[in-house]
Amino acid sequence: MKFNLRITALLGLFVAVTANAEEKAIPTFNKNVAPILFEACAMCHRPGESAPFSLLTYADAKKRGKLIAQVTHSRQMPPWKADKSDVSFRGERRLKDNQIALLKSWVEADMPEGDKKDLPKAPVFDDGWPLGKPDLVVKMPKSFKVPAEGRDVYRNFAVATGLKEDKWVKAVDFRPSAPSAVHHTLFFLDPTGTAAKKEADSGVVGSSGVMGTAGRAGGSGRPGSTGNLFDEIGVLTGTGGLGGWTAGARPRELPHNLAYKLPKGTDLILSTHFHPSGKAEEEASTIALYFTDKAPPQKFTGIQVPFGFGIVVGINIEAGNKDYVIEDSFTVPVDVRAFGITAHAHYIAKEFTVTATPPDGKSKTLLRISDWDFAWQEQYQFEEFVDLPKGTKVNVKIRYDNSAENLRNPTSPPKRVRWGRESTDEMGSSTLLVVAAKEEEFGKLQDGYGAYVRDAAIKGALKRFQEKK
Ligand code: HEC
Repeated sequence: MKFNLRITALLGLFVAVTANAEEKAIPTFNKNVAPILFEACAMCHRPGESAPFSLLTYADAKKRGKLIAQVTHSRQMPPWKADKSDVSFRGERRLKDNQIALLKSWVEADMPEGDKKDLPKAPVFDDGWPLGKPDLVVKMPKSFKVPAEGRDVYRNFAVATGLKEDKWVKAVDFRPSAPSAVHHTLFFLDPTGTAAKKEADSGVVGSSGVMGTAGRAGGSGRPGSTGNLFDEIGVLTGTGGLGGWTAGARPRELPHNLAYKLPKGTDLILSTHFHPSGKAEEEASTIALYFTDKAPPQKFTGIQVPFGFGIVVGINIEAGNKDYVIEDSFTVPVDVRAFGITAHAHYIAKEFTVTATPPDGKSKTLLRISDWDFAWQEQYQFEEFVDLPKGTKVNVKIRYDNSAENLRNPTSPPKRVRWGRESTDEMGSSTLLVVAAKEEEFGKLQDGYGAYVRDAAIKGALKRFQEKK
């Protein structure tokens, strides 16, 4: 009996020791670290991509081991600004807690390389485009000279697609040649050739005009429209044009077989906002298009709250105010299904909170960003459709910090900031991408949103008028 107990105790000890040894096994680069870097970092940390250095080899990782442990612990890397909320996102770039701990213990163990045969194959990136080989690549025929300094520049560039037949576009990717100077680009469509002609006649690269005079034909676009904020929103939200690109956005295919329409013979108009970077640069953007043969089963639209990137609620933040809030809401007029969400503001925004409250009162957080960073404007897609029954109130609340304590404040000492198009002005809105649950109610959805927009525009104009008095 005694003997048995001893054996059991010894056995127990033995089991405990081995378990412990396994737990405490020193992680190596080849076995434990490389798989994390290849999967979560290499897409940006490789030659020709946005990150300033590669993380593909042992030498790469060893050189910056401490920093890697730090920035993963603080969740600065991989960049992913959406907090955990009530919905999950596709392609969420968050490391698991145990991965973060592993990177830390690897650094603490002095970063051993390990056995070569444990090293997984380095990821292969097709043609440099994250979505793989595009179906069509077009490029600005001439480059535009971006001045080193001065005010922001808005410019429209016509790029021929040369398409002989109509296409459905499931994804668009964009590559600026001067990424440090390109703030964002919207992809308009011009079936009339007007913008290209204007550019050719003027003899200079690109044409000016806030949004250009390009018409659009995609989605529900109004051909020949004059280009204003409504158009800008149409483009951003998929009801005209082909969406847009902002610094930090990663390209994604539209989900649920949705697609943009790109009619044959249509020019792409890149409407680009430049923020001079301090050195003179040349921009010749490249656009990659991905087609699908299948016509989409449904139309989709964007619901931007507050409308006009926040112009309708007015933004006017006195210097030093750490807690300036704007808020607005839209109540959906039919059952809708949301599939994506974006947020947009400039440098001094701090927090975004987007909630959906259905008639039964059970509120859901659709997007929460507690540390807004202008550099990372993700186009988030929900893992699955989020159903919002008729009468659901979509509420967007944005907080700004215009104090000197806000390290991202571009102006020192802080000064009053108003709504405007310059990077040092502010904007603020979130756009929810939706389909009507019943396709035959899509018109009703558009009408309801149109009414919100008109109402908001009137209220906004009134507010600005009263402020001026
Ligand atoms: C979506 C693209 C992207 C991904 C994914 C990404 N990075 Fe980065 N990383 C960047 C960019 C761009 C910078 C430089 C600008 C910045 O610091 O924000 C950067 C900077 C860094 C820095 C330097 C930070 C500093 O303060 O100097 C480290 C270290 C780093 N990344 C590590 C990682 C690690 C480790 C991963 C994966 C776990 C990762 N990154 C994933 C784009 C990315």
